[in-house]
Amino acid sequence: MNDLFPVIDKLIHLNHAAVGPWPKRTAEVVQAFAEENARQGSLNYPDWERREQQLREDLASLLHATADEIALVKNTSEGLSLIAYGLDWQDGDNVVGIRQEFPSNRFVWQSLQDQGVEFRMLDLAAAPDPEQALFDLCDRHTRLITVSAVQYASGFRMDLPRIGEFCRERGILFCVDAIQHLGALPFDVETVGCDFAVADGHKWLLAPEGLGVMYVRRSVQDRLRLLQYGWHMVEPLADYDQADFQPLVTARRFEAGSPNMLGIHALQSSVSLLLEQGMERIGQQVLDNSRYLAERLRELDSVELITDTRAGRMSGIVTFRPGDLDPKQLFKRLMVKGVLCAPRGGGLRFSPHFYVPREQLDQALEILAGELARGGS
Ligand SMILES: Cc1ncc(COP(=O)(O)O)c(C=O)c1O
Repeated sequence: MNDLFPVIDKLIHLNHAAVGPWPKRTAEVVQAFAEENARQGSLNYPDWERREQQLREDLASLLHATADEIALVKNTSEGLSLIAYGLDWQDGDNVVGIRQEFPSNRFVWQSLQDQGVEFRMLDLAAAPDPEQALFDLCDRHTRLITVSAVQYASGFRMDLPRIGEFCRERGILFCVDAIQHLGALPFDVETVGCDFAVADGHKWLLAPEGLGVMYVRRSVQDRLRLLQYGWHMVEPLADYDQADFQPLVTARRFEAGSPNMLGIHALQSSVSLLLEQGMERIGQQVLDNSRYLAERLRELDSVELITDTRAGRMSGIVTFRPGDLDPKQLFKRLMVKGVLCAPRGGGLRFSPHFYVPREQLDQALEILAGELARGGS
């Protein structure tokens, strides 16, 4: 794995829930793209377009969608905003979501209050059966349920198919922030039953910040009003003299202008690696790592697990309270010793990807145990 992921030689990277490192091949593709641009500019632009199309197809494979349902967006926040502001709301509508969500999947829904839309938030901490609690917040004015597939702070995994089924039966739209899931665990839009799924590429997808994916189910594409316009959302692409225009009937209609070609090269390279490794296998390894960490963390006296370790609820994220140590201080002390993680959700968050070797998990736990023994000094 060191050949594929040079980061292993430098660092114990337990921070894929924040910003993941690039695989070797992605760094090489970006270097080659820089060289190519410097030496011959856009001479081979048709090759770049092929790479763009390949990325759409690879992302479609990753989501079990079709390439026509994939739009390339800047990030999760942009995708969620295109959805929230694309839909046609009526005064009195409501959206149901979760209070502990990352801001990208709250603020935009809260902002709809100007249009008379209420954002109803479930307190996850007070819900023994979170899916049922979400359903209990719904009424006949509920137009959409939005959740993260995996909660960023605790790693709690939602039962997406259960929510999808509920939504389908009632004609409620279902939107998933998939950034903490995609690339770590298998994701299938048909099994999940979502209408929208959005993720940026810089976490478990192992690509740079600034390019993400927005899945829009074919049958609901017409329901999103277009908010941006440009040459990239029509066919044929290079006919700049068209007097009038017809937006594409695919999700590319949500992309206005010049694509992020540098990001496309990088993300395509990283996603192709994940597909080659196989998402089933990656998912198993991610869960093995998390289960192993949870078991070993439980053995440390002062540690209290925040993550729910029940089957079906685990993900790539394991969060714990480190006794009476301040997680923000401890995170810095671990970083100095070569362990990268993050203080989140009132504890310390470990988020290793599938390729992180068991020895590195053991080393991280040993360093953590040392710091816990050292205490607040
Ligand atoms: C659940 C969730 N959504 C969204 C984001 C980031 O959003 P964006 O891609 O807009 O930067 C994060 C980043 O931590 C996240 O954890």
